Amino acid sequence: MFIPGQESSYKDREMESKLEHLQLFSNIFNQVIDGLITFDKHGTIVHANPAFCKLLQMTKEQIVGMHLSSLIPEENIEEHLTYWEILKSNGRFFGEVRFKGNNQIKTFEMSTSSEVYNGLYMSILRDITEKREMEQKLIDSERKFRKIFDGSLEGMMLWKMNEQDEGEPINIIELNQAAKTLFSITNDTNYTHQLHKFKIHYNDEEYSLLQSIKELLNETEATTFEVIYPDGRKKIVEVDSKKNIITDTNLTLFRNVTEKLKMEEQLRKTEMLNVLGELAAGIAHEIRNPLTSLKGFIQLLHGEITGYSMYFNIIMAELERIESIVNEFLVLAKPQAVQYINANIVKIMKETIDLLHAQAIMDNIEIITELKKEHILFYCEPNQIKQVFINIVKNAIEVSGKGSKILISMTVDNDNIRVTITDQGEGIPEEKLKRLGEPFYTTKERGTGLGLMVSYKIIKQHGGKIEVESEIGKGSTFHILLPIKTPVNDDE
Ligand SMILES: Nc1ncnc2c1ncn2[C@@H]1O[C@H](COP(=O)(O)OP(=O)(O)OP(=O)(O)O)[C@@H](O)[C@H]1O
Ligand SMILES: [Mg+2]
Repeated sequence: MFIPGQESSYKDREMESKLEHLQLFSNIFNQVIDGLITFDKHGTIVHANPAFCKLLQMTKEQIVGMHLSSLIPEENIEEHLTYWEILKSNGRFFGEVRFKGNNQIKTFEMSTSSEVYNGLYMSILRDITEKREMEQKLIDSERKFRKIFDGSLEGMMLWKMNEQDEGEPINIIELNQAAKTLFSITNDTNYTHQLHKFKIHYNDEEYSLLQSIKELLNETEATTFEVIYPDGRKKIVEVDSKKNIITDTNLTLFRNVTEKLKMEEQLRKTEMLNVLGELAAGIAHEIRNPLTSLKGFIQLLHGEITGYSMYFNIIMAELERIESIVNEFLVLAKPQAVQYINANIVKIMKETIDLLHAQAIMDNIEIITELKKEHILFYCEPNQIKQVFINIVKNAIEVSGKGSKILISMTVDNDNIRVTITDQGEGIPEEKLKRLGEPFYTTKERGTGLGLMVSYKIIKQHGGKIEVESEIGKGSTFHILLPIKTPVNDDE
């Protein structure tokens, strides 16, 4: 049945509803905070909402009618062509795009579908420029941190507390290269497990290194540890921790100060030697003159007075002893009368042994020599070298018990003469080893504590060095190393 009035009102309603939809769409289009654009199949922009215009800082008039490609930065043109192809073939596209607006390039997340309205494509664009920039900043700062972490000369360790009662005290997240080198860690698996085997030495007790690091986390100043490696090696390491460098993650720095401490120790010794050298020169000078007159007059008196020969002999012997001590002192000062010549150092050693033979026999000590060569020429002051040999062999005799042996050997390797003197005495504890060569350092009741100091000085003047190895209860070995080629005359 055809009712004309009814038909027209139906059409009106349809029209009304369409208009309502359009109004609604237009409202949404104009008010959403995301950018919205429509474009035709050629890519020409037909609509742009205010949000999109604002994002690109352009007017609607500028944008509408523009080709999409003119909004695309040159370096992104190629990828846009791919997007376009995807859109054409799939009818939709979702991805990241870059548009250049007024003086700026922005990154958008774009969702495009086709045929939304009158055969047009529509894109919804969300500005993610800041998000991307933040991400980039994060990547950059992570990269910077990596560079510092990996390139640092100091050992670095990132770790977290292990709050559980069992297992290792801390969990190591990362170790940088310097730390791996310091602790001789070669493989990259489970650092915690590997470092758990390290100990520290403190007050004669051993503690776990990781446990100590955990306990000292709140300490504001660096702590110095003697670290004991699983293979028994020892190094002095300065440890400094920073709490919560990132949430719940702590940073510990390691600095190997073994060499630095050794150098400081050496410097201290050298300085002491210098001061003492000057002092000795002065004293020796002052004593020598009256001593010469004393000796002269005693000799004169000896000629005049008879019957006291024994006393005179004792006085002369004692005066000579004083003179030899004074001469020993003089070695400390600038050597004046010393004369360097090419001397046979094997012969010097033989003479030394002859000299000390009697004392050794008395104590029932056997001196065994291993002098492979009969002749080793060395540019030196022979009396001084003999003095060194005497001092060291005498010390060896003094610590040797009855019936023990002293081994003396002399070898030449790589332009160095190595003289070793080994005894079977009580040995020297580690803290005392450091003090050898210090003036007046003695553990003997009647010792002066100058023998080794003079010896160190003489050997240094000859460009060589003295090294000492010792084991408590077993004995000590003194190595005298002398470079054959360098005739070092004086160093200060
Ligand atoms: N072979 C050794 N074994 C054990 N300890 C040693 C040995 N050589 C040196 N020492 C220690 O080093 C100290 C210093 O030695 P040094 O020769 O300088 O002085 P001294 O022997 O005590 O006195 P002197 O000046 O009369 O030689 C000794 O007192 C001793 O404790
Ligand atoms: Mg001595």
